[in-house]
Amino acid sequence: LKTPLIAPSVLSADFSRMADEVAAVENAGADWLHLDVMDGHFVPNLSMGPQLIKALRPKSKLPFDVHLMIAPVDPYIEAFAKAGADHIHLHVEAGPHTHRSLQHVRDHGVKPGIAICPATPPEAVGEVLDLVDMILVMTVNPGFGGQKFLTSQLRKIETLRRMADATGRDIRIGVDGGITAQTAPLAVAAGADVLIAGTSVYGQDDYAAAISNLRIGAHN
Ligand code: DX5
Ligand code: ZN
Repeated sequence: LKTPLIAPSVLSADFSRMADEVAAVENAGADWLHLDVMDGHFVPNLSMGPQLIKALRPKSKLPFDVHLMIAPVDPYIEAFAKAGADHIHLHVEAGPHTHRSLQHVRDHGVKPGIAICPATPPEAVGEVLDLVDMILVMTVNPGFGGQKFLTSQLRKIETLRRMADATGRDIRIGVDGGITAQTAPLAVAAGADVLIAGTSVYGQDDYAAAISNLRIGAHN
């Protein structure tokens, strides 16, 4: 199995010390930084906007992996691109025109990803795979950190891995929600190669140990 990339989600970080929290996971071996944007409409919670992401950008060299849980998404793509997002994931459930939205992301020089909720079948992203660099499979219902991994999504990860490989392009599969040293190997065996983790990194005392546990657990 390929060693997966680890992307800590700052949703579980201490928001009063955000720049330090970002530096801490960078020093602890994180590959990417995952930033969750929630609008209180598409998902039942609020989190952060482009202002915080822009403020953090000069503080870190990590690629910024921005997960937009917002609808509509088009009015905000430019702001997140300008704030310094390296990847922007938008949800296939966020509107009827995700095909166009993903093109907008690419037009802004940002890598597009399509995120998919637990209730949505894998076929829903089939027609946009030629536009994305990554599929973000939600293994919890989006909106909150600290929820339990939905093992029902493992089959979907397997299906999406096959669909992604069939394109002949290099498409990453990220898993987001309930990733722990126990669930990470299941997700990687099913075909995931990016592990997003909030509680399993920021909820631990030793970030470096937490990150290597996820990486090693998934690799074995
Ligand atoms: C949930 C977010 C996740 C969240 C994961 O809506 O998309 O990125 O931070 O948190 P954990 O790892 O605690 O499930
Ligand atoms: Zn997320």
